[in-house]
Amino acid sequence: MKKNALITGGTKGIGKSVAFSLAQKGYDLVLTYSSDKNAAESLALFIRESFHVDVHLLQADATHLESILLIDEYLKVKELNLDALILNAGITCRDSFEDISLADWERVFFANVHFPVFLLQKIIGKIKKGGSVTFTGSLMGIEPHSVSLVYGVSKSAVHSLVKNLVKFLARYGVRVNAVAPGFVDTDWQKTKPAEIRKNIESKIAVGRFGAPEEIAEVFLMLIENTYFNGEIVVVDGGYLYK
Ligand SMILES: NC(=O)c1ccc[n+]([C@@H]2O[C@H](COP(=O)([O-])OP(=O)(O)OC[C@H]3O[C@@H](n4cnc5c(N)ncnc54)[C@H](OP(=O)(O)O)[C@@H]3O)[C@@H](O)[C@H]2O)c1
Repeated sequence: MKKNALITGGTKGIGKSVAFSLAQKGYDLVLTYSSDKNAAESLALFIRESFHVDVHLLQADATHLESILLIDEYLKVKELNLDALILNAGITCRDSFEDISLADWERVFFANVHFPVFLLQKIIGKIKKGGSVTFTGSLMGIEPHSVSLVYGVSKSAVHSLVKNLVKFLARYGVRVNAVAPGFVDTDWQKTKPAEIRKNIESKIAVGRFGAPEEIAEVFLMLIENTYFNGEIVVVDGGYLYK
């Protein structure tokens, strides 16, 4: 029987690597993205040709409430039930503590916390018994850092959500976990000045940023191992070892 997975923010970075891992295992995919249609389309083509699975693309910005209805409607029309839901899309705001506005604080919280909660509420009936939900948390939700207060707090909320949701999803026979990556080489990190990057690397025991493929392996483990439930698995190469 064919398996289906939906990955929010599934066309680049960590989400894209998870898409590859699942396609390799034969999963059909629904990938959401926010704005880069060209990147999404060329990725979908590549996955279809390489792994012979279906790839559905949906532009569904996680900062917009209506994206929830759009995703729900899409699954309904295509008659898709999910084995795995990967709630990966997330945003940040790097304005200083002194400057961040309530609107920006709310936007980050909406995308990182409110959106996945209410998407899950809407489509829980479309996740198969025995299926799973996997969030992308962050090391920044565990180790306080000085760059973005709202990001760290919102990712802490994601981790707390996972722990709390176990109780609410058990009745559906659905497990819920999170991967909390440290610093991963994706577009997200590309704008970091070389000096800051070097400083971060000096704090990581293995001396480098993680590769998205290394993070995807952990997602796959949480999706496929049916005894993981309520876990936040940190993958950070040994951050703060010094
Ligand atoms: N990279 C890291 O070091 C790191 C560490 C810990 C946690 N994380 C978390 O990992 C997740 C993915 O990050 P990444 O590094 O893989 O980022 P990325 O390489 O920039 O990829 C982002 C993906 O998410 C989509 N996306 C961006 N904004 C979106 C929005 N508002 N609504 C829906 N989709 C959106 C993008 O689509 P478009 O291309 O169309 O914009 C793209 O598919 C985030 O939750 C982030 O907080 C990242």
